[in-house]
Amino acid sequence: FIPPSSGGAGGGVTAKDALGNDVVLKDFLATHAVGERVLAQGLKGDPTYLVVEDAGAIASYGINAVCTHLGCVVPWNASENKFICPCHGSQYDATGKVVRGPAPLSLALVHTEITEDGKIAMTPWTETDFRTGDAPWWT
Ligand code: FES
Repeated sequence: FIPPSSGGAGGGVTAKDALGNDVVLKDFLATHAVGERVLAQGLKGDPTYLVVEDAGAIASYGINAVCTHLGCVVPWNASENKFICPCHGSQYDATGKVVRGPAPLSLALVHTEITEDGKIAMTPWTETDFRTGDAPWWT
């Protein structure tokens, strides 16, 4: 485990909300429902989805929202249970795996961690992509 820092020198960052405040797990779970995908600012400042899996838990992965086609931020479409890019129509399933082009690749992953003071942090995902079984293209 790499201790998160505010900078990123250690490889991890604390997730920030739209106002630039640290995302606190308890507050986050109190205001978001199971199944939601919620944008936060993550590694390198990239917009990254946090996934609410069950009451009291976020997924151990986050999903980078930058479309692998030409870089639009891809919104979550809850009724379709997919991420659908508004720019050229690429689609990704609920884990960010590409299911329709023109996007060539799935959305990048990060790890999520909970810091000692109860904040959500993100660290680089360097292992096999669990959705495809491939090496991560983003490292
Ligand atoms: Fe997303 Fe082109 S940028 S489909």
